[in-house]
Amino acid sequence: AIVYEWSGLTQLAKVLESHFGIQRVVVVPGDYNEDHTILSMLGKEAALQFMSAAFDEQVVAVTGGKSVASLAQFLHPLDGQKDITFVAARGGIGHEMQMQANTLVATFAMQMETQYRTLFLPEHLSEQAYQAMLTEPMVTEMMAFYDQADCVIHGIGSAEEMAIRRNSSPEDLRILEEKGAVSEAFGYYFNADGEIVHRIRTIGIQLEQVQNSEQVIAVAAGKQKVNAMLSYFKVAPKQTIFVTDEAAAKAIAAKI
Ligand code: F6P
Repeated sequence: AIVYEWSGLTQLAKVLESHFGIQRVVVVPGDYNEDHTILSMLGKEAALQFMSAAFDEQVVAVTGGKSVASLAQFLHPLDGQKDITFVAARGGIGHEMQMQANTLVATFAMQMETQYRTLFLPEHLSEQAYQAMLTEPMVTEMMAFYDQADCVIHGIGSAEEMAIRRNSSPEDLRILEEKGAVSEAFGYYFNADGEIVHRIRTIGIQLEQVQNSEQVIAVAAGKQKVNAMLSYFKVAPKQTIFVTDEAAAKAIAAKI
């Protein structure tokens, strides 16, 4: 019966893969909203996908959030793999400490006995501060890492939830709503057609750099993110591996 169930999930994954035009979809059984322990199954699958393709001197950009955090406990040192560097994909501090990209890269590196780079900057920078930051050596060094990113591991959020989590001003919330922002990933907000409608002004990986990286692992679960997923996957790079839960995958399949 279990085999049958998994093969049903494989079918479901195939439907999403071909609709989104991405490399792979991995669906874990169950409903994240009913059972939050499903998050660790997600983390396990995502960690396996990552470790199976990891290589020496790989540069891996990592975003914050609980979905990406779920990989941590499943990462372990790999034979023959030495110099992986985990880099925080953005300088923002919009999450609780445990879920911040800066914390996650340190944890991932500890688990795999490798290195990491952090970037501590405010979540929202003024235009002037932003321009000044661009010339700071610590920032230019991070930008160079983003250019070299071989892999990006990221979460996907609903635009509204992320704007609230980030304490965006009422003015920003209004702009996002007006522009029809539906999803958010690595600091970019996208509308239902997958067009960029807003970007947080902080130092972080650029969409083009994500597109140029060899491997992209997106981790997101829960039916409440279905519209965000449908929006983000309009622009997701083809090389993306998407790890999600059964309830969200079924809700997506019902809408496409
Ligand atoms: O803030 C980092 C981030 O990865 C966002 O880009 C994304 O929208 C969100 O976290 C996902 O968070 P969670 O996995 O906790 O829902």
